[in-house]
Amino acid sequence: MAWSVGAGLEGRGVIVTGAAGGIGQAVAAAFAACGARVMAVDIDASGIDRVLGGLEGGGHAAAVLDLGDLAAQRALIERAQRELGNLYGLAHLAAVLRRRPSLAEITEEDWDIQIDVNLKATFFLCRAAAEAMKAQGQGGRIIAFASQAWWTGSFGGGAVYAASKGGVVSLLRSLARSYGPHGITVNTVAPGQVNTPMLMSGLDPAVLQAMTEATPLKRVAEPEEMAGTVVFLASRHAGFITGATINTSGGFLMY
Ligand SMILES: NC(=O)c1ccc[n+]([C@@H]2O[C@H](COP(=O)([O-])OP(=O)(O)OC[C@H]3O[C@@H](n4cnc5c(N)ncnc54)[C@H](O)[C@@H]3O)[C@@H](O)[C@H]2O)c1
Repeated sequence: MAWSVGAGLEGRGVIVTGAAGGIGQAVAAAFAACGARVMAVDIDASGIDRVLGGLEGGGHAAAVLDLGDLAAQRALIERAQRELGNLYGLAHLAAVLRRRPSLAEITEEDWDIQIDVNLKATFFLCRAAAEAMKAQGQGGRIIAFASQAWWTGSFGGGAVYAASKGGVVSLLRSLARSYGPHGITVNTVAPGQVNTPMLMSGLDPAVLQAMTEATPLKRVAEPEEMAGTVVFLASRHAGFITGATINTSGGFLMY
């Protein structure tokens, strides 16, 4: 096997959702640097334009859509296959976090948006991508983002978010069993604190400081440090890893 960072990713079509977000931008850039063709997806039109314009190499594309719209998801998979030439990978990062200072303030609307985007849309998108990969017959890679909160619950007002991420982990394990026989690996990445707008939105600075102190590396992660894990999982190097939840919490959580 040729030993390179993105082993096997050259010329592969990869969808990155949440690509205008803090971590998604870094993931899209890392895939492009490995020679993959990226379909950058986000609901944020101006953000996605900026990301697409900065990607190395050629053959990339962008789609602006709300992943909660299941019909738009189906069209996205077809577009990715057509415009990228093939669909080998899905890195699914798009998510919403609604922090509330107390459990008493959580509303039904908070439940609906976080479960719809973080969990329900994840099922339909991952299934559609995996079915397309299965039909292509060349295996594939599905990587979705959980959070350290999937295991610990929330420290910062995100009880429903944490529950949605617990759902992502168990959901992706089911998909790993179903699609493994087709050479499609399915894994999750579980970051601790990453320096992005999502982390900082509505977070009590005291909670941030306490969590940083409880992290052996004594800092928050940078988005690029998450991108390396995603590229690894998508590469040939990770060919025998499936159903895993990769702990990228800087040691805050150890498993
Ligand atoms: N930042 C952290 O500390 C942290 C920690 C643990 C897990 N995560 C997870 O990592 C992933 C990326 O997080 P981030 O910090 O980059 O967040 P971010 O808020 O910077 O990016 C999320 C992106 O998803 C997009 N998005 C939201 N709803 C969408 C929808 N319905 N359709 C399409 N796009 C939509 C947003 O526009 C945004 O660009 C998320 O799944 C998040 O839960 C982040």
